[in-house]
Amino acid sequence: MSLDNKSITARAHTNIALVKYWGKKDEKLIIPNNSSISLTLDEFYTETTVKFDDNLYEDVMYLDNTKIDNMQPISNFMNIVRKLSDTNKFAKINSYNHVPTSAGLASSASGFAALSAAASKAAGLNLNNIELSKLARRGSGSATRSVYGGFSEWKHGTDNDTSYAVSIQDPVKMDINMIAIILNNQPKKISSRKGMKMSVNTSPYYKAWEQQTTRDLKSVKNAIYNNDFTTLGKTAELNSMRMHALTLSSDPSYLYLNKDSLLVIDYVKSLREKGIECYYTMDAGPNVKVICQSKNIEKIKLYLLQSFDEENIKISKPGGSIKYL
Ligand code: PMV
Repeated sequence: MSLDNKSITARAHTNIALVKYWGKKDEKLIIPNNSSISLTLDEFYTETTVKFDDNLYEDVMYLDNTKIDNMQPISNFMNIVRKLSDTNKFAKINSYNHVPTSAGLASSASGFAALSAAASKAAGLNLNNIELSKLARRGSGSATRSVYGGFSEWKHGTDNDTSYAVSIQDPVKMDINMIAIILNNQPKKISSRKGMKMSVNTSPYYKAWEQQTTRDLKSVKNAIYNNDFTTLGKTAELNSMRMHALTLSSDPSYLYLNKDSLLVIDYVKSLREKGIECYYTMDAGPNVKVICQSKNIEKIKLYLLQSFDEENIKISKPGGSIKYL
């Protein structure tokens, strides 16, 4: 295909899973064992510009103005775009993360979603949301859901064609916010890719996780349709702990939480005892996200300020879908 080497910029927001994806049935294609549901967040996003260039002999990428040395994951991803668009040109990629620096807030989700949109359009493709979601999936599982704003569901499917995300609700009707407490900005010792593989292969509870997640998914979906904040929060909290139970029960056992994560969990529980409704969820890292309604944001923040700095407490509302800028 002949390209006119246009420069295309896209923005995608990160998302937090309310029902988590943890385990693949196909490592290469990233086909998950279970479906998942997430909320896209307005506060955290990535903006990426892609331009194919006849003079390049390999892909080049800058992230926040720093050249990426290990280009393997990006080049593998760009090879998929080249195959889809039938081109052999390489691209210059410029990406900016509007996520607190290395906060461990799933920048791979917004990163690969933004790259899917910008790279596919720059390559002359005009993908619809489902096609974009399938492409984003090849970069990182959680990116599959970041194509959409609001609540979305990644349907596990069985192969490349049937595993993609759909929108559940956007704009979001529920009054829901996420307070992210940034506890650690070090790269994680065990990547989600490695961690989930260990859980699938060695946790005796993995089968139970798959069955329970199917129930959690129904419960969260109904809660979204019925505007039932309490059921959504309770189920998301339990589902997150069920995922972390898989890490603890793997061989060897491993843990993403640290002592500050446990402190936030204690805070959330004592806030609930005081009648301030809120719930917690955590991904493959120590940072905790507190799910709450607008009326309680300031009360929860005041409580957290007893132990954490203001700059490490980030409040986010539901975010929008992928946009071309
Ligand atoms: O696709 P990854 O490598 O970002 O893994 C995501 C894993 C969790 O964040 C823990 C769960 C999820 O569904 O986002």
